[in-house]
Formats: sequence, C-alpha cells, structure tokens
Amino acid sequence: MNRIDAILRDPVFPRIKAAVIGATGLAYYADKDAALAERINRRLSDKPTLGLAAYLAQLAAEGPAGPEYQALINELTVGETFFFRYAEQFEALCAVAIPECLRRNRESRLLRIWSAGCSIGPEAYTLEILLKRHFADRLRDWQVSIVGTDLNASFIETARRGVYGNWAVRGLDPAVLAECFDRQGDLWAVKPRFREWTSFSVFNLVDGPLPNYPRGLGALDVVLCRNVMIYFDEPTRTRLLENLHEVLVPNGWLVVGHAETGQQVNSLFTPVPVPGATIYRKPRPGCAPAAALPAALPAYMPSIAVEPPPAEAKPAEPKPAKKRSTATESVARLRATAAKPTPASLPTPQPAVPSSAGPSVTASDGDRAAALDACIALAERNRLDPAVHFRLGLLEEELGVGDPIAAFKRALYLDSDFALADYHLALAYWRRGKLAPAQRHFRNARATVATHDATELVAEGGGLTVAELRSMIDLWFSGEEP
Ligand SMILES: C[S@@+](CC[C@H](N)C(=O)[O-])C[C@H]1O[C@@H](n2cnc3c(N)ncnc32)[C@H](O)[C@@H]1O
Repeated sequence: MNRIDAILRDPVFPRIKAAVIGATGLAYYADKDAALAERINRRLSDKPTLGLAAYLAQLAAEGPAGPEYQALINELTVGETFFFRYAEQFEALCAVAIPECLRRNRESRLLRIWSAGCSIGPEAYTLEILLKRHFADRLRDWQVSIVGTDLNASFIETARRGVYGNWAVRGLDPAVLAECFDRQGDLWAVKPRFREWTSFSVFNLVDGPLPNYPRGLGALDVVLCRNVMIYFDEPTRTRLLENLHEVLVPNGWLVVGHAETGQQVNSLFTPVPVPGATIYRKPRPGCAPAAALPAALPAYMPSIAVEPPPAEAKPAEPKPAKKRSTATESVARLRATAAKPTPASLPTPQPAVPSSAGPSVTASDGDRAAALDACIALAERNRLDPAVHFRLGLLEEELGVGDPIAAFKRALYLDSDFALADYHLALAYWRRGKLAPAQRHFRNARATVATHDATELVAEGGGLTVAELRSMIDLWFSGEEP
C-alpha cells in the first residue's frame, strides 16, 4: 500500500479533513479525499515516521498561523490570478463605482479598497494602476488605501515583492507593460509609483468576524472578493457575504467572481448591471436590495471611458410600482443600456417599493419579470443562436423559474462545443441531485476545453479563460458517473 492510500485509510484522516476545512473554509476538499491526501502526503514526505494522529496534533497545537499549518495551506490553496483579470469588472469600477465614491467622499477625501483573497497581489496593483492612470488629478490630496489580504502567507510575501513572471502579466498591452513595470531579467516589477497606496497582509476570511477600521478593514468603499468563495460551502459563503456587507459603507461596492453571483449575493446587495459586468452595491440603511437586470444579458465591453464629474446625483427615491414591461420595452431598454457605455447611461439601482405601493407587485418582481420577458423574446427571435438560449438558461436558473436545463440543452444542440453550456447544464443537474448527468456534462465540458489553448477566452465567459474554466470543472468533476 502506498503512503497516499495509507493516509486515506487512516481513521484520523476524516478528522484532519474536518479540521482543515473548518480552519480555512476550503470545503472544496470535502469530496476530494484523494487530492487532500496527496497534499498531506507532500507535507509528510520528509517526515516518514510521523503518523497522521501526531500530524493532526501538531496542526491543532499551532493553529492556521503556525508554520506547518501554513505550509499545508500553501499546498491547498489555488492562487491563479493575473493583472487586469476580468477587465470588464475593472472597467465597471472605473466607469461607475469609483466616480461615485469620489463624489460621496469629496469631504473626507478618503478612498478605501480591499482585495480580499488577493493571492500574489495583481488584483490590488491593478486597482492602483487604474486609479493613477484615470483618476490621478481627482485623487490629488486624497488618502487612498488598497489593502490586499490572503490566507496564504507565501502569496502575501510574493505580493509584497511585487515582482512577477510572464504568466501574471499575460495579455497586457505592451504599452501598459512599459508604463507600469520595470523589466528585471525575465521578470516584471511593478513600478514604485504604482505601489504607493497598496499594502498586503495575511488574513483568514473565515476566521470569525472581519476586523474593523482600526485594523484597516472597515468603512470600505470597494471590496473585491473574486474567485475565493467558489472554494467555500454555502454556510461559509453566506457568513462571509454578511461580513463583507458589514465592513462596506452604505452604498459601498462589492465585486465577486463570475461563478460567485446569484441569489446569495442578491439577497444582501443590489446588482448593478454595467455593460459587460455586474457589480454589487450595499443598499443604504432601511433599503432592501433591489433586483436589477441580470448580467447574463447581452454583454458589451466598453473601453474605459472616464467622464468628467457628472452633476450631483439626487438620492434615489422610492419609485411607484412599475407595471410589468412588455418584452419589446424590455429589449429596448437593454439595447439602450448596451449602446451607451458612459456612466451617465448606466441604470441606477432602485430601492424596493414599499408594500403600500401595490398588491404583490414590487419593483424587484417587475424588473425580474421584464428581464425574463426580454430574454424569452430574444430567444424566440434568435432561435438558432446558442448564446441566447444559454443566457436564458442562466437567468431561469438564477431566478428559479422556467426550464433552465432545457435552455442549456437547446444551446448545446445548436453548438455541441459550447463548453460553458455543458458546464452550467452539469451544475443545474448537480443542484437537482442528478449526479450521473452532472458528471457526464462536466466530462463533456472538460473534453471540449481540452482541445483549446489554456489562455484562450471561453465563449460567453465574460473574460474567463480556458485554464480557469478547467480548474472550475475540476472542482466538480469526480471522474465517476454514479
Ligand atoms: C483563485 S485565487 C483568487 C485571486 C484573485 N482574487 C483573483 O480573482 O484573481 C483564490 C485565493 O483565495 C485565497 N483564500 C482561500 N481561502 C481563504 C481564506 N479562508 N481566507 C483568505 N483567503 C483565502 C487563496 O489563498 C487564493 O489566493
């Protein structure tokens, strides 16, 4: 029996698994015994006589900040990241969220941003680069702080060094590379002038409540927590989202990864669809999050266009209940949104309508219904377009209506190489407890992406790369079809 098999059969293994998941939130490993055992084995390779019970005792004694726990965490965490990852989300921040923060904080002249789960740091530096490139004049005399945190201490060391290989800067425009990085042999060092506002520290997102402002993580204007929650289970995600909600100022902004959107986020934050991306806003006290048009609708990628400060926006007032829009009206509204990429054209989140405004029809219901109308009408008019059926499936799945499985199947019938449709069809089956077809479609998605280069963008993925989709599929794909 090899060492990994021995670890798997050891009666202490389930306790180590529970302890590690409890300490890190990485529930991803709950059904990945072989992967977890393999990583524990790596840690034990130079300790041939150490049994699992003694190893567990060592971990318990030192806790997640201890050296051996950290070494194990280094093995367990997935740090995939790169500069300007999901550019459209950064564009949304520059077009909508940052100008709004500048208006809101013009008295205090403070801007606080947190990159939570920052890995080796590109997300945080990207923010400083964008702020300096697009808002330098308006931020003169401001106190700006961008804090990047991660569970993995070695990632944080790399982040602090700010020196990267080609992989982290892949796809960057040569002009941006030249402007923002110094060449150091084969490596790229972030220029000192883009490192003035950014700092990094080790921080565990699932370890109790988030610290408050005295520790630098409160009263935040913007939080990016992208591609971190996909590794957590639902209760951990819920707790974390509540904590993130807590540390944001009213009207503050949250950005999550594409695979992390959905009802959990929508129940606390108002989705604000910006062409090409959806970002989320903490409602002001007393306002419930309002539903908005979904991100799954046709994407339009503007280049970053930063406008002069617009006239002061009036505080949003409760609107009368809307009548359910017709599909044509909804499509017209969507088209209008897509056609104007400037901040002024972007829809403003609306607070929920007071119940006195009408029987059971709220603005949220109206918007959701309108979005669905629009999507159905598009699908009817573009029956042979797989992307439209795919987006309808996403929307139906998010709203819990219609037949998303049928919509994803139609997309695949029209394009059998539509990897993301296979992936979402698999997820839809998985959520319904249908594990055999779920595994089959994860397998199909994997086979489709296997024929593509890792750096290629996935169709309908909003910037998702083949490598990222592969690692998302691997989270779910067990290789067995029960
Ligand atoms: C895939 S990376 C995402 C990096 C970056 N946010 C991005 O989207 O490019 C996920 C990061 O989450 C971190 N992470 C996982 N569990 C964590 C926890 N409990 N607390 C803090 N960070 C955690 C990992 O160490 C890893 O660096």
